[in-house]
Amino acid sequence: MNTRKFIEYSKRISPYRPNPSIEAFASSLGVPVEDVLKLNSNENLFLDRIALNRILVEAACETDPRLYPQDEEEKLRQLLAEINKVSSSQIMVSAGGDQVIELLFSLLQRGESVTAVSPTFSMYPRAALQREADYREASLEPDFSQNVKKTLGIASGSSMLVVCNPNNPTGNQFPREDIVELVKGFSGLVLIDEAYQEYSEYSVADLVSEYGNLIVLRTFSKAYGLAGLRLGYCIANDELASTLRERYMMPYPVPNVVLNAGIKVLEKRDLIQETVEKTRIEREWLISELNSLDGVQAFPSETNFVLFNTEKPYTEVYEALMSQGVIISKQGNILGNMNCLRVTVAPRTLLWRFIEALREATK
Ligand SMILES: Cc1ncc(COP(=O)(O)O)c(C=O)c1O
Repeated sequence: MNTRKFIEYSKRISPYRPNPSIEAFASSLGVPVEDVLKLNSNENLFLDRIALNRILVEAACETDPRLYPQDEEEKLRQLLAEINKVSSSQIMVSAGGDQVIELLFSLLQRGESVTAVSPTFSMYPRAALQREADYREASLEPDFSQNVKKTLGIASGSSMLVVCNPNNPTGNQFPREDIVELVKGFSGLVLIDEAYQEYSEYSVADLVSEYGNLIVLRTFSKAYGLAGLRLGYCIANDELASTLRERYMMPYPVPNVVLNAGIKVLEKRDLIQETVEKTRIEREWLISELNSLDGVQAFPSETNFVLFNTEKPYTEVYEALMSQGVIISKQGNILGNMNCLRVTVAPRTLLWRFIEALREATK
């Protein structure tokens, strides 16, 4: 490898720099950590941290860290199979949904192309650039809907089509018929990223047996509240899932303690479902509160975040929120809405604080 060439090329890839830690941010503001409101990464803040910590301790006690993972992965796949009404051989677990994205993009040959609807999750163009793949964007319509014929036209000749559904950052879920038409009409691999599926209306996991080119991505980072543990998975037909799992995935991608925690969380999924219901209620409340602020327009959402546009420049709004200890996500121009920002749906007490800070920030 020519390191110089490698470093030069890599400058085309936007660096992923996570925000400063809450601790560092709090100390820069001179406030206690509890005063920082982190609403930028769509984590599940409705889950009780103490209850989750208990689950983690139980998982740790059942784990033998001296050994490589044993049956934990198979057990987790069995549970996921039951929940998704597929067979365990149709599932591949991964270190977060990001690892599924990485793996699929790593299969692209240099110069091959991948198409994704746009705007969408920033990891797709990044993964494409890492492979020196050609990244094509099929722009959504101004109302965030998709023109399937147009998407298929742009994707023609691509090796892979990626659709985030519901879409991050627009928050909408495309009609199921659109997804079916895309899967039927595209000859390459179709990755449907369902990271936010639990908050939405439907999944297309039931179609994987019928369509051998379909892969559905899921994660434990959002509704399941385990973002810090890095656990995700994908569902595909038997042949594709087992090929990926047995021939392409690195051995032991997920630590046994994390697999055990995933199993325990799935066993307590009533708790998760309760938080999903609460999120839906608070999301609608948040949207109506945002829309009642002068100069703010919020968009509908089928996720645990809300996209909104402000009359004031978004960078100013963002900075004004930061100075009040509130971190959200900067988005900028989203399909002609020039000043978009994205906020995670959280329990009402936290959202009150956010709304009050935003009222100040948009004055
Ligand atoms: C659309 C989408 N896909 C995938 C991911 C990756 O999630 P993780 O790697 O935490 O499972 C995210 C995280 O924000 C996301 O928004």
